[in-house]
Amino acid sequence: MAILKVLHFPDERLRLKGVTIEEIDSEIASLAENMLETMYLEGGIGLAATQVNIQKRIVVIDLSENKDDPLILINPKISKLEGKEITQEGCLSVPEYFDNVERAKNIEYNYETLNKKTIVAKAEGLLAICIQHEIDHLDGKLFIDYLSPLKRNRLRKKINKQKIDLARSDNFKSIPERNGPFNKIL
Ligand code: NI
Repeated sequence: MAILKVLHFPDERLRLKGVTIEEIDSEIASLAENMLETMYLEGGIGLAATQVNIQKRIVVIDLSENKDDPLILINPKISKLEGKEITQEGCLSVPEYFDNVERAKNIEYNYETLNKKTIVAKAEGLLAICIQHEIDHLDGKLFIDYLSPLKRNRLRKKINKQKIDLARSDNFKSIPERNGPFNKIL
């Protein structure tokens, strides 16, 4: 098991698209395990391979309170979108930023499992939102892409300012690893 490094906006690698996984093998199984471990450590409820710089169509999700009910979706696809819901979203790749996003309320989707089974399922509420958010990652999309240009600009400025503040800070070395991209500013 290993902790993977999560890319942060505006890293351009978050814009790369994941390719379909043709062979579900032990390499994919250990990737899923590492992604879960990383997601739990970072305190997320979902993580897409794109976020850890792996361009493969796999996402992990765990909405359970005790973090003991992982869902691994290989080659997930949404076949039906219904209704509308506005939810406040955040993302491990956009730390400390939350905003409202409108998405479909109900979805039908399918995916493959580590046991090479194809599952067809329906989801609503948080799970539906999470699946839409994660599949967006696999397509190189971030939730902040749905915000107005004005809001996105403000966010970009805020992130740039954070980088400058961190670079100036004396206790720079005590910044935990999860702020990885900032550590490079000296
Ligand atoms: Ni995300």
